[in-house]
Amino acid sequence: MQHKSVKLASVFAMGLLWPATGAVAESAEVDDKPQLTAAAKAQQKRDAALRQEFPVQYQSWQQTSEQTEREDMLASYPAAVILWAGSSFAKEYNSPRGHHFAVADVTHTLRTGVPPKEGEKGLSASCWTCKTPDATRLMKELGVEGFSAKNFTELGSEVNSVVYCTDCHVDGKAELAMPRPHAQDAMAKVHIPFDKQDANMQGAQTCGQCHVTYYFQPERSDKVNIPWIFGNTVDDIEKYYDTRRFYEWIHPISRTPILKARHPEFEHWSRSKHAEAGVTCITCHMPQETDAKGNSFTSHKISKALDHFDAVCQDCHKSELTIVKSLERSKAQIDAKAREVEGLLVKAHYEAKAAWDAGATWPLMNDAIMAIRHSQWRWDFAMASHGLYAHNPEEGNALLDMAIKQVNYARASLAEILKKFEISKVEYPDISTKAAAHKAVGIELDKLTEQKKQFIKQEVDKKWSEVTRYGYDN
Ligand code: HEC
Ligand code: HEC
Ligand code: HEC
Ligand code: HEC
Repeated sequence: MQHKSVKLASVFAMGLLWPATGAVAESAEVDDKPQLTAAAKAQQKRDAALRQEFPVQYQSWQQTSEQTEREDMLASYPAAVILWAGSSFAKEYNSPRGHHFAVADVTHTLRTGVPPKEGEKGLSASCWTCKTPDATRLMKELGVEGFSAKNFTELGSEVNSVVYCTDCHVDGKAELAMPRPHAQDAMAKVHIPFDKQDANMQGAQTCGQCHVTYYFQPERSDKVNIPWIFGNTVDDIEKYYDTRRFYEWIHPISRTPILKARHPEFEHWSRSKHAEAGVTCITCHMPQETDAKGNSFTSHKISKALDHFDAVCQDCHKSELTIVKSLERSKAQIDAKAREVEGLLVKAHYEAKAAWDAGATWPLMNDAIMAIRHSQWRWDFAMASHGLYAHNPEEGNALLDMAIKQVNYARASLAEILKKFEISKVEYPDISTKAAAHKAVGIELDKLTEQKKQFIKQEVDKKWSEVTRYGYDN
């Protein structure tokens, strides 16, 4: 990885800080309602102070609430329901939207479900890790594993803020920070701790705390772990998982031990031509802007990069049309390949089922099952990487080309097995819509939705803070 410095305003050099002139008077009021926890009160106080001290950054940070749209990915790509069958991803999966929604969206998604039954652990509180600085606060109070050993819903009432100043800055300061222990561990593994990085890379790293792939480490109370011991390419991470015989769940149709990728934006960017040229997440998603007094500041309205063509991209690319066309071409190419892999993987899962049903055994099936695992891992590493077509289309294409090879290999192997058992016809499911795909894998969406609604009404609306309901009118 190379990271040359680019011309981002260096906050560190400036001793600096925005003059608190024009400070909003009413913002200094601290709401002292008796039911607030000590942590919630401390957060209100901090928030009022930061709003006053850094008004332009604060206001632009608030504007992430303007990005309300998101896409129902399971409706757009119903095959994903089959590939993720047996996991909560098959229930609900949306594209990302503005940071302001992060806490409310994770609270409301069917993926995080409802509180577990008496005596069951249910989902780990680790799901809060990349939504709120309350997660890092609670890790300090409970210990990292003490935190992850808790249930997700158990800690809901502790969450008071969403992707916030203290997630990326030393509390109360402009100085950057990377407070998440899993990110600190990962950077220690690759021997570039945060404080040894230049300002440019530190900026990207604040994003990389969350926009990075991870898994919950079962032998460590489900704490978040970044699987980078061998490196952070798709092959390195696969080797890490394979040598540990790790899997997230056993696929209920094909019995494949499945790997799941999660938003590896940092990984893909780090190997891109832009990274080589010193262009980071901050360059494209947090450009410099000018305030009313003519001072330049970093926009905290982390949003669509293309909106900033004139301010950012034009430094290096002359024609917006050429860039837009190039992005559209990359997107179409990657989308088409992803859809092809999905179609083939759905068939492979059902062909494996037919083989098992006919009496196939592990020694016969091993090769095909491993090829399904490896193909789906590559598809997922592309599918889960939001903006891959813009960040690193070369790698996106390579991932999906390999995924196609691997699933074709799996199907060729399965075809031989099926022949041995004289099976000439395999039934494939109807995946023409999300509803049809849900039916095929036995997910009763109405029932899950109703349970979730009851939980929201009885627990969240009554006991959790406002930030957990942001954007939801109940
Ligand atoms: C997701 C990470 C992130 C969050 C959240 C965040 N910042 Fe920043 N902030 C940055 C980055 C990155 C920079 C740019 C540093 C650089 O490269 O110069 C920055 C720069 C700044 C600066 C330096 C002046 C400037 O405009 O460049 C101030 C002051 C600041 N942020 C205040 C805040 C405040 C106040 C909040 C909360 C309302 C906040 N930040 C939230 C990442 C973040
Ligand atoms: C504390 C974790 C965290 C940090 C730090 C973080 N993000 Fe995010 N980001 C998220 C989550 C979670 C979402 C999805 C929110 C949702 O959909 O509810 C998201 C969404 C986004 C989106 C989609 C916005 C849209 O309107 O579609 C972009 C772009 C983004 N982040 C870029 C960045 C950049 C750039 C940085 C670093 C400056 C960064 N993020 C830092 C957690 C984080
Ligand atoms: C060369 C500029 C550039 C760099 C560098 C860059 N991005 Fe992006 N990113 C884009 C473009 C272009 C898109 C496509 C949509 C858009 O934002 O216009 C995008 C999309 C995204 C999305 C998906 C948004 C959505 O709603 O689907 C996320 C999340 C994201 N980027 C995060 C990051 C993170 C984190 C980094 C650094 C590790 C990063 N980006 C680096 C240009 C960039
Ligand atoms: C500091 C310079 C710099 C900035 C700023 C920059 N890029 Fe690039 N970009 C590059 C370089 C270098 C390449 C690689 C060119 C090559 O391989 O020939 C590249 C390649 C690309 C490509 C693929 C090649 C092409 O021309 O079609 C796209 C798409 C792209 N950039 C989009 C963007 C977008 C969108 C932004 C702004 C959000 C942006 N870039 C900002 C330097 C930059």
